[in-house]
Amino acid sequence: MANISNTLRTPLARMKFSARKLVISGMQHLRLISSLVQGEPKGPEIKCDIPGPKSKQLITELSVIQNTGSVQLFADYDKSLGNYLVDVDGNVLLDVYTQISSMPLGYNHPHLLSLLKDSHNVKTFVNRPALGVFPGADWTTKMHDVLMNVAPQGLSALQTMMCGSCSNENAYKTIFIWYRRVQRGENIDFTRVEQESCMVNQPPGAPDLSLMSFHGAFHGRTLGALATTHSKYIHKIDVPSFDWPIAPFPKYKYPLENHVQENQAEDKKCLEQVEDLFQKYEKKGKNVAGIVIEPIQSEGGDNEASPEFFQNLQRIAKKNGAALLIDEVQTGGGPTGKMWCHEHFNLDSPPDVVTFSKKMQLGGFYTRDELKPQQAYRVFNTWMGDPGKVILLQGVLDVIKKENLLSVVQTSGDKLLKGLKEFQQEFPSLVNSARGRGTFLAINCASSQLRDEIVGKLKKKGIQSGGCGEVAIRLRPALIFQEHHADIFLDRFRQVLLATK
Ligand SMILES: Cc1ncc(COP(=O)(O)O)c(C=O)c1O
Repeated sequence: MANISNTLRTPLARMKFSARKLVISGMQHLRLISSLVQGEPKGPEIKCDIPGPKSKQLITELSVIQNTGSVQLFADYDKSLGNYLVDVDGNVLLDVYTQISSMPLGYNHPHLLSLLKDSHNVKTFVNRPALGVFPGADWTTKMHDVLMNVAPQGLSALQTMMCGSCSNENAYKTIFIWYRRVQRGENIDFTRVEQESCMVNQPPGAPDLSLMSFHGAFHGRTLGALATTHSKYIHKIDVPSFDWPIAPFPKYKYPLENHVQENQAEDKKCLEQVEDLFQKYEKKGKNVAGIVIEPIQSEGGDNEASPEFFQNLQRIAKKNGAALLIDEVQTGGGPTGKMWCHEHFNLDSPPDVVTFSKKMQLGGFYTRDELKPQQAYRVFNTWMGDPGKVILLQGVLDVIKKENLLSVVQTSGDKLLKGLKEFQQEFPSLVNSARGRGTFLAINCASSQLRDEIVGKLKKKGIQSGGCGEVAIRLRPALIFQEHHADIFLDRFRQVLLATK
């Protein structure tokens, strides 16, 4: 491809090449060229700077009541379709970021829209229940048919929640409650001292336990989850937190195949520190009740760790009587080519807890049966999930199955990753370390400044992408992102790199 790229420097050569490719792929892959969402735009279309005048006006209006520093544009969700996000100024962007990785079927998928023609579904949307107290007649069936149907193997208990942060927050509580139950033994009631001391945040009722997390991790922004988030200071500064252990997450050298030994040594070094932290916190009187980890650190820079790292981490957790929580909020729901990313790791046994949100439409967590709380109201809130979102999730899962989207993800992802790897060879001073699974991919830029510049230039070319960590550009397209979308993305990315050289 590097050679082909060199021969394609003139616009005419590129046009001829694209035309030939289209004819060939048109003949061979007719089905893939047709979009999975009918009527989807043929490609990006940029009409003005982004944010354009209408977005700017709306930003000014919103600024009166909210900080809008993070708002990039105002979208037109009536016009957005499939893989294309349309903004209020009429710009049409190929979206490889999909609302921070949370749109499994892109915009306005016809099957999801059709679900609202059913009056039972409409009533489910209108009457949002306090699920812990007044679940609807079909709630248990829905939990089985939808959420348990895609449960990670070996996890038979489920609690729905709202967002990713509150799923982790409540999963952490579940771990602490389980850990104390194991310590107490099954039949021992809470003592009066425990009952009274917990009311004033003191041990033994509020015990000095801890949860281990990793440098670079992101698990959310609520207080407990934030204590385990370590990706950017701006998320944490000024907010009191816990003294809990933080272990190093492996930092690999790329390409992986050229650095096998160094990366194995890196795994070993990090795992030794995990073991040391168990000892250190036990000595401090703050036993580690659990470990929380992302299968791929996402906000922190798309940092990967090997299956062997995860296997050994699980063994260490078990040896120390701690639970292993895998946070699949960003990786869950199919973008890595499997429903759950940890399925790639071939663990000895199921993790103890798996949290989800984003592409799954609602938050929640699966656990081993043993971790299910024994008393009511210990893990509880008003909504505890949303049956309306489960209807949407059912629609999403039906489409994933019918359209075989996990294999679409794999095919599109292979093409994207190949393209990214070619770019790192062609533009080594600009980009490096292409990596990931499925379409859950990233590439590093030579500096933070360059990364921001490239993301900005991509937007001007009609590609909505996003950064993560210090220097990475992350790809988080919808599961309906096909090879022809990958071609458009790679073509625009290459144009940006050529113009940046
Ligand atoms: C791995 C992970 N965990 C938790 C969260 C928090 O989810 P939410 O923003 O829905 O609270 C995120 C959000 O990006 C995430 O990527």
